[in-house]
Amino acid sequence: VAKARAAAPAKIILFGEHFVVYGNPAILASINRRITVTAKKSRDGGKVKIKSDIASGEFDGSTFRLIEGANARATLEPLYYAARQALDDKKQQKGGLEIEIKSDIPYGVGLGSSAAALVATIAAVESLLGRADKKKVCESAIEAEKIIHKNSSGADCFVSTFGGMMHYSKGGGFKKVEAKTKLFLVIGDTGIKHNTGDLVSSVRKLKEANQMAFSGLMSQSRDICNQALAALNSGNTEHLGMLMNENQLLLERLGVSHEKADDLIDVARRAGALGAKITGAGGGGAIIALAASKEDSERIASAIKETGQGAFEVEIDTKGLVLG
Ligand code: PMV
Repeated sequence: VAKARAAAPAKIILFGEHFVVYGNPAILASINRRITVTAKKSRDGGKVKIKSDIASGEFDGSTFRLIEGANARATLEPLYYAARQALDDKKQQKGGLEIEIKSDIPYGVGLGSSAAALVATIAAVESLLGRADKKKVCESAIEAEKIIHKNSSGADCFVSTFGGMMHYSKGGGFKKVEAKTKLFLVIGDTGIKHNTGDLVSSVRKLKEANQMAFSGLMSQSRDICNQALAALNSGNTEHLGMLMNENQLLLERLGVSHEKADDLIDVARRAGALGAKITGAGGGGAIIALAASKEDSERIASAIKETGQGAFEVEIDTKGLVLG
């Protein structure tokens, strides 16, 4: 093949972010917003050119030439590493690649755009060179992700590859969750880019300074997650919303919420959300709101947009990585 394409979805964390780092469960899901990657072979031996909406660069062995874009090195280096790895695995050390990335996921706000970019890039390059196997793609993506976030749980890459809703814990791995009813969800974007590593460190400091209080929060978070599983299994969306609000209170206690996120959460609740919280690491980033119906989710998204911030309705994606 001369050209191959792959698309991978964004993700949300419905329950348990931060506490998951210390072994607690979390519930996360892929959503119907995707990154699409096209990979082409080039005659420029050994050179990997990567072009995305936010950055582009050229890599030639050990040299990196930034063409344009904010924070391009951090964004592109893991992608380059992953693409190079695929070439080496297929013994095509002399081959060159051109990679083009198109995204409809806001980046840097906890929606898993970097994981989706990795999963789709690896899958596109693997298909270009032969065959892409989902399990292998996921493993390589997690490996490459460690360049950005060295203590990554790998959860983003897993969800982006396999799709759907998952219950995850470090000890128990991934288990599929089947929601009984369709969930109407809205994402609100504070527009404030966060750094997951910094936020995880700030939580660690808080934990070390006050072990007793932290273990109390851990047990509340675990309890919320277990109740959320039951609510998903029985289709009790009202209870699910209430649990999201309780989860948000815990995140506020961790100090990872943000004034702007609190404002959007407030707007969503006043517009009729059953529950709302930050999703992911916090410190700005994105919020998610749960609505009772399509009409409610439209109203919530409009209310957020009226404040001048980005908002969009989403559904849980069930496909994960799609080739071609
Ligand atoms: O990068 P984000 O915003 O999706 O947040 C990651 C979730 C954390 O629980 C904060 C960190 C982790 O590795 O699980």
